[in-house]
Amino acid sequence: MNIILFGAPGAGKGTQANFLIKEFDLIQISTGDMLRDIVKCKTELGKKVEKIMANGDLVSDDIIFSLISNRLNNKDIKNGFIFDGFPRNLKQAKKLDEIINDNNIHLDFVFHIDVDEEILTSRIENRAKYEITTRKDDTSAVLIERLKVYNRETKPVLDYYSDKKILNVIDGMGTIDEVSSSIFRIIKNDFKVD
Ligand code: AP5
Ligand code: MG
Repeated sequence: MNIILFGAPGAGKGTQANFLIKEFDLIQISTGDMLRDIVKCKTELGKKVEKIMANGDLVSDDIIFSLISNRLNNKDIKNGFIFDGFPRNLKQAKKLDEIINDNNIHLDFVFHIDVDEEILTSRIENRAKYEITTRKDDTSAVLIERLKVYNRETKPVLDYYSDKKILNVIDGMGTIDEVSSSIFRIIKNDFKVD
């Protein structure tokens, strides 16, 4: 089973990915986490990526495509994976279609975790306040830019998946457990598992 978790910054993609990994034995592919690992390496590429992320902009499609193609070559994805934070624009969505066709991979679900902007802002502010490792892009100024980029570049991808009839909109405003129950219900119903 292969899934895309789609949503604005702070919608709960990473949080819900953790539940899905455990319940269905899937692998999480978070482009954000992969990029943060690259930044840690302090290479030329790492420094370039760090600047882009710190501004809340999107990293170039070429960098993302090479990360994704390499990751999908790893055999550990054979039981299924969750994309968290990818695709993030129409070009990435179309490229993903090419990659999955070439590799004979089937995409089963796209879940849009839908959350109002005021709630997203308060979640990111809380994360910045209470988590031990603070993300450089979790400031109110950068968050404004991340939300702008989401609305301009990423949101249009929803229509792409809606046209393909694999989009499920999930109310992401409830508790963490309520959101995961909504996602599990849809998966279990379609896959006829208990
Ligand atoms: P990325 O790491 O993907 O960040 P993001 O999309 O901004 O999303 P977040 O990780 O902030 O939020 P989330 O949805 O995972 O929410 P979480 O579960 O943590 O990307 C970072 C950057 O990398 C981008 O800006 C870009 O520069 C670059 N990048 C990444 N992918 C790229 C791509 N494909 N192309 C180009 N560039 C790319 O939850 C947030 C908080 O809320 C947590 O504290 C959590 O505990 C809490 N919470 C979660 N759910 C609930 C709930 N239901 N109720 C209450 N609290 C909740
Ligand atoms: Mg995340």
